Amino acid sequence: MTQAADLLDPAERLDLDGLRALQLERLRHSLRHAYENVPFYRESFDKAGVHPDDCRSLSDLSRFPFTTKVDLRANYPYGMFAVPQERIRRLHASSGTTGRPTVVGYTENDLHMWADMVARSLRAAGGRPGDIAHIAYGYGLFTGGLGAHYGAERLGCTVIPASGGMTSRQVTLIQDLNPSVIMVTPSYMLTLLDEFERQGVDPRSTSLRVGVFGAEPWTQDMRREIEERFAIDAVDIYGLSEVIGPGVAQECVETKDGLHIWEDHFFPEVVDPITGEVLPEGEQGELVFTSLTKEAMPIVRYRTRDLTRLLPGTARVFRRMEKVTGRSDDMVILRGVNLFPTQLEEIVLRTPGVAPHFQLRLTTSGRMDALTVRAEARPDADAATREAAARSIVQAVKDGIGVSVEAEIVDPESLERSVGKIRRIVDLRERRD
Ligand code: DLL
Repeated sequence: MTQAADLLDPAERLDLDGLRALQLERLRHSLRHAYENVPFYRESFDKAGVHPDDCRSLSDLSRFPFTTKVDLRANYPYGMFAVPQERIRRLHASSGTTGRPTVVGYTENDLHMWADMVARSLRAAGGRPGDIAHIAYGYGLFTGGLGAHYGAERLGCTVIPASGGMTSRQVTLIQDLNPSVIMVTPSYMLTLLDEFERQGVDPRSTSLRVGVFGAEPWTQDMRREIEERFAIDAVDIYGLSEVIGPGVAQECVETKDGLHIWEDHFFPEVVDPITGEVLPEGEQGELVFTSLTKEAMPIVRYRTRDLTRLLPGTARVFRRMEKVTGRSDDMVILRGVNLFPTQLEEIVLRTPGVAPHFQLRLTTSGRMDALTVRAEARPDADAATREAAARSIVQAVKDGIGVSVEAEIVDPESLERSVGKIRRIVDLRERRD
């Protein structure tokens, strides 16, 4: 089932040839814009011996050099901007885990395009003009809150700018103001779930119909848990500050089969994370984006570190990306075995007696790293269920991932709750350097 054509943007109605032609035209323009206005790109293209005129087909993009987080840091704060400061209307910043934040900027047109892409995303998620949208992504330098806000307004929604935090008030607002759409990180949605239950309100009884969840990885098991506990449709929204913010890709509610990348503005590639070689459609690797229309901060072949694969379009002509498995920097290498928090999420959510709250604690044991999965018991789980759950998690990790871990089932509500993006890994390892 696809959406009625009259609800779609003109670009969503292009055929594949039309889309590729539009992308090529925009790509050539964007490469030229970057080369002519950002000294960093001029140097890096020159060094690689390529010129924007060398891009004659979309596949020529692979001849251009990558841009990394390190490059953005080296050009902090304004070195990547391609327009004079007077044309910048807004700044955002992504905190990152180490070092300087990355500052990103938007012109008036960039803000328009961004709002359009979030509006398109929200509509694909099942939102409609006239809906009341509760936004519990954080407002501020983080792109989640304001990005979602202007997109929802652009679609014609009534916006509740709740931001993150003050959890009991969030529940009151949802109860009193009757939103049909909620936009929030999946981990904070779980925090809201606890609060509904604490207040004795049935989370299935609210006016909410659709949840648009992103800013962190979440699994199909988490989707089932949220959909079931809240009686809503839960769909995935993806984005990153360096590219624009939320609204780079969005899952359609009618198919829930991965996220359509809004490729008329953001051109995706998937590359081998080690060699940088472009991988064919369907192969898993690191997602790379080139902006096609951004003015303030064009970005060429940005290495996101997000791991996924590209798939052909279904509900839309645009290619899909599979739900992100994780970031290469969230990967834990435990005694030679690669492990992602999302793999543990799947296991924890399938274990009877365990709530969807868990942490991964890394410690040093002798000369080896050790990992303990700490998961919370469901309130009704007795001691025997908890013991069985711990055994079952250890076994499932051994069988499914191939490494030995320990599991501890802790009391309900004893693990820290998320108010935004959750950090699953607690690294207590002794430093060896
Ligand atoms: O998280 C933008 C955003 C806000 C997206 C609200 C969706 C909703 P940053 O803070 O720059 O921007 O973080 C970007 O978050 O590279 C991914 O690692 C991760 N991420 C974002 N969306 C998803 C998702 C925002 N749907 C980084 N699934 C990205 C998995 C996601 N990871």
